[in-house]
This record gives sequence, C-alpha cells and structure tokens, in this order.
Amino acid sequence: INGGLVVKAFTEEHEALVVKSWNVMKKNASELGLKFFLRVFEIAPTAKKLFSFLRDSDDVPLNRNPKLKAHALTVFSMTCESAVNLRKAGKATVKDSNLKDMGETHFKYGVVDEHFEVVRFALLETIKEAVPEIWSEEMKEAWKEAYDQLVAAIKEQMKPPA
Ligand code: HEM
Repeated sequence: INGGLVVKAFTEEHEALVVKSWNVMKKNASELGLKFFLRVFEIAPTAKKLFSFLRDSDDVPLNRNPKLKAHALTVFSMTCESAVNLRKAGKATVKDSNLKDMGETHFKYGVVDEHFEVVRFALLETIKEAVPEIWSEEMKEAWKEAYDQLVAAIKEQMKPPA
C-alpha cells in the first residue's frame, strides 16, 4: 500500500526497460533535457511562473536556461533510480532527507497534481521520441509506474516546513 494505491508488481523486466532506455538517452542528456522541459511548457505555459529563476530573469532565453535543463534531467534520473528501487525494495526509496526537501520545495512553489500529470505526459512523449526503435507499451508502463511511485513519495512530503 502506498498512498492508498495498490502497488503493481514491478519486475526485473520493468527495471531493465527503464535502465536500458535511460542508458541510451543519457548520451544526449542535454538535448533530451531541453526537449523535455520545452514540451512541458508547450502543454502548460503557465507552469513557467512556478520557477523562481524564470520569474526573476528575462535575460536568459528559456532554451538556454541551465537550471531548467538540470531539473528536467533530475526528473529523468530520479525516475530511473525509482525503477531500480521499486524492483529491489518494492518502493521508490529516495533518501529521506532529500524527499523531505523535495516535498517542501514543491509545496512552497505551488506545484499541484496537474503539474505532475503534465510532466509525466511530457516525460513519456520525450522518451518515445528519443528511443523509437526500442519503445514499447511495456516500456511506457514501466516508466509510468516508476514516475508515479516517485511522485507519490514526494507528495506525501508536500507540506509546509515543520
Ligand atoms: C525543484 C525534483 C516534478 C517544479 C526541484 C528539486 C528537485 C526536484 C530535486 C530541487 C529542490 C529541492 O530538493 O529542494 C523533481 C522530481 C519530480 C519533479 C524528481 C518528479 C518526479 C516537478 C513538477 C514541477 C516541478 C511536476 C512543476 C511543473 C519545481 C520547481 C522547483 C523544483 C518550481 C523549484 C525551482 C526553483 O528553485 O525555482 N524538483 N521535481 N517539479 N521543482 Fe521539481
């Protein structure tokens, strides 16, 4: 049980699909990160307002913003990590201190369910386009599950600082 959801079995095959595609994609990490967050803002332009460094600075064009790229790649790498942990431990273990910080940060910046959904959609689309030759329904399900479990863990910590 995790946040009231029944956790589906996350198998070695699921883990392998995520790890395999991430290993291919990370060779083009920079381009991938760019595509990913541009996709997010294409679907949800208002999400730009959430990022403090975008609000404060108009001087750096969106597509050159290193912090956005870093955040996009963090989502990728942590989702991949989540897949590994899901298989090993049956849950998306992230170091507790990091989860707590992440929960507080996303809460503070006003990230809501819809944002997590847009980011999930953009994530899956970005992967589909990045690895068309190995993309499959199973691969999509594996990434989706790893992402959902990670997000559930973050959301549990989304509250004001104690
Ligand atoms: C900050 C990860 C989803 C918006 C951060 C930080 C991490 C992170 C590690 C650094 C802050 C800290 O540790 O205190 C993730 C992961 C996600 C996710 C792993 C999904 C699995 C989202 C979504 C949004 C979002 C859906 C909104 C569209 C932000 C914002 C910040 C942030 C606005 C603060 C940036 C700033 O300094 O202005 N995220 N994030 N994140 N994230 Fe996320």
